[in-house]
Amino acid sequence: MTPKLIVCEHPLIQDKLTALRDKKTEPAMFRRLMEETGALMGYEVLRGLRTRKKTVRTPMGPAPSLCVDQSIVFVAILRAGLGMIPGLLQIAPQARIGHIGLYRDEETLNPVRYYVRLPKDLDKSFVVLCDPMLATGGSAVEALHILKTDKAKQICLLSLIASKAGVARVHREHPDVPIFTAGVDAVLNKVGYIVPGLGDAGDRLFATL
Ligand code: PRP
Ligand code: URA
Repeated sequence: MTPKLIVCEHPLIQDKLTALRDKKTEPAMFRRLMEETGALMGYEVLRGLRTRKKTVRTPMGPAPSLCVDQSIVFVAILRAGLGMIPGLLQIAPQARIGHIGLYRDEETLNPVRYYVRLPKDLDKSFVVLCDPMLATGGSAVEALHILKTDKAKQICLLSLIASKAGVARVHREHPDVPIFTAGVDAVLNKVGYIVPGLGDAGDRLFATL
């Protein structure tokens, strides 16, 4: 299986990413941009949804059409993944939402699990794991392990900025999971931050700096 990395190069996504990276962007605007980026990138990710044929009647007669034929689940890695959920729900309001609480141990950078609440029937669902930052990849790998233990079969990872090392780690440990991102940064510093990245996504989103 060839692991997939899809870089969303749409000008609107790139423009919003630029504003998100800008340290002058205040939390209120940061939140709004994260939400909008969630919607735009979600549109790309959900291209893989299964559809079925359906005929509807227009005022002029029958129209052979298509409709979505798969349950959708968005899973936010807390905290920063929450920022993308409102935008994703704008385009797929029928989706169900899961939460995976992880924080990185400051010394080891390993993810520490503190909360998991997932919808049922993940095995039949199209699951989108959301976390704007893919740094060492430890959090994503752990969250993917949790989802697969709960029988999820079709999973995409949605991240706004990915480090090269994070992409390599997810591809190595979960080669079946396509990664959608808006930017790939080369450097991961000694404390596991993406450089240039955008700083601490959770802190910028929730104004806890
Ligand atoms: C950040 C970010 C990711 C994780 C990425 O969360 O939102 O979840 O780090 O890093 P990794 O790829 O090296 O695992 P953090 O642990 O800071 O928690 P927070 O969102 O609650 O602040
Ligand atoms: N988490 C963030 O929020 N930013 C980084 O650069 C790395 C981890």
